[in-house]
Amino acid sequence: MKLIEGIRSRRSIRNFSEQPLAPFFIQELLECWMYAPSAHNQQPREFLVIQNKDHLLRLSQHLKFGKMLAQANAAIITCFNKTIITDPAFIQQDMSACTQNILLAAHEKGVGAVRIGVYPLNNPGHFLNTYLQLPDHIDIFNIIALWYPDTTVPLREKSCIKPEKIHRETREQQ
Ligand SMILES: Cc1cc2nc3c(=O)[nH]c(=O)nc-3n(C[C@H](O)[C@H](O)[C@H](O)COP(=O)(O)O)c2cc1C
Repeated sequence: MKLIEGIRSRRSIRNFSEQPLAPFFIQELLECWMYAPSAHNQQPREFLVIQNKDHLLRLSQHLKFGKMLAQANAAIITCFNKTIITDPAFIQQDMSACTQNILLAAHEKGVGAVRIGVYPLNNPGHFLNTYLQLPDHIDIFNIIALWYPDTTVPLREKSCIKPEKIHRETREQQ
C-alpha cells in the first residue's frame, strides 16, 4: 500500500472479526511510534500492551466511548513519562504524532484500529491509572483498540475534504 493511499483509506474501525493478532505483529506496530517526531526530541512515550480478555473487558467498563474494547483483540495504552518531559506544552502533539504512526501502520497491515481518547480527561485517581498500577509520573494519553476488521462492512466515505478550507498566501485567497 502506498503511504498516501494508506492515509486516504485509513478509518476508525469499530467492527471486527474474531481472528487473533500475533504478538510479534504488535511489536512491529510499536516500533513505528519511534519514528514519530518529538518536540525537542524529548521522547516521553511508553506503552502498555493488553491482550488479556478480562483486562480488556474491565477497561471497556470504564470508558464511555471505549465499550468496543471488550471485543478487542488487543489494546495499546499509550503513556507519557512526566519525569522526562522537557516541554509539556507539546505533549499532546507528541503523543498524537506517535498515535497516528501506529494507526497507519496497523492499517497498512490490514488491522483495524480506533483511538480512544483519555488524556486530559483522566485525573491521577482515575480507575485506569489504578487498575493498570501506573506510578504517578506515568500518565495515559490514549488507548488504541486493535483487531482484524470485519471486511463485510464497507469502508465509510470521508466528507471532510473541503477545498474551501485551503488558503494560499493569505486566508482571503483560495
Ligand atoms: C483525540 C481523539 C479522540 C478520540 N476518541 C475516540 C473515542 O473515545 N472513541 C471512539 O470510538 N473514537 C474516538 N476517536 C476517533 C474519532 O471518532 C474518529 O477519528 C472520527 O470519527 C473520524 O473518523 P475516522 O477516524 O474514521 O477518519 C477519537 C479521535 C481523536 C482524534
